Amino acid sequence: MFTRESPSKGPNSPRVVGFYEKPTGSIQYVVIDEATKKAALIDVVLGFTPSEARTDTEAAQEILDFVKAEGLTVEWILDTHPHADHLMASAWLKEQLGAPTAIGAKVRDIARLWEGFYNTPDAFDPDGDFDRLFADGETFMLGELPVRVMLSPGHTLGSITYVVGDDAAFVHDTLMHVDAGTTRADFPGGSASELYDSLMAILALPDETRLFVGHDYPPVGERTDPAWEATVAEHKAKNKHLGGGTPREDFVKIREERDATLSLPDRMLFALQVNLRGGRLPETESDGKSYFKIPANTF
Ligand SMILES: [Fe+2]
Repeated sequence: MFTRESPSKGPNSPRVVGFYEKPTGSIQYVVIDEATKKAALIDVVLGFTPSEARTDTEAAQEILDFVKAEGLTVEWILDTHPHADHLMASAWLKEQLGAPTAIGAKVRDIARLWEGFYNTPDAFDPDGDFDRLFADGETFMLGELPVRVMLSPGHTLGSITYVVGDDAAFVHDTLMHVDAGTTRADFPGGSASELYDSLMAILALPDETRLFVGHDYPPVGERTDPAWEATVAEHKAKNKHLGGGTPREDFVKIREERDATLSLPDRMLFALQVNLRGGRLPETESDGKSYFKIPANTF
């Protein structure tokens, strides 16, 4: 798998290793406190073949192998939001590692929204399926590094950003790499205007903060390899949608015009059923198999 390293810059600065999952253009992160060898996993991917509704643990296994080879203790399995484009491997990795899973507290509202689309009242129980639901502003520790949670809605109504130590933030599907701009805001519960507010809050972090994004879809311009790290200063100066200080109205127009051209991810209707259960497949039926429920003519 294609990986990139972002070394620790010193005390209170995590080492970050990104793993690129090519089928969905997702970046899975291992965030490491070098002093204690404690680590968090962020936005891990369960492989999925939509034509067969078949899952695989290839990408997650690579994370597991890395963690073992590096002698890391995984303290947290974190997600930034219930993803629409990939299934999360959080439940599977929790089984392997025993670490608690967590996501933003507004996942409760996202669960109610999708129970409506699936016509399955009370199907999702995020309080039971995740070990922690983080509210805006909440903090926790990763080894000796403090982690702060910022609510950053727009892409979904309950996305969160994890700010780790002094100089790293996991901004999921708000920003894309500098040359690609920002991420779509047209899924149910999304809002380009709220996304703008979230982006401004992220770009108000210190200039040297390393921002790690959730997706990349090369080729982009001259670039053929995936990229996912840039500083606040780099995004403020050069981000395709925001660089130089794009006003709100212009950003919303750019975002909404772009979103109108995008088709929905082929995994979306499968993914939400799993991700709102913390990464678990739907309950097995009398034959021991798990089944998806897909609404027709809704999207
Ligand atoms: Fe997403």
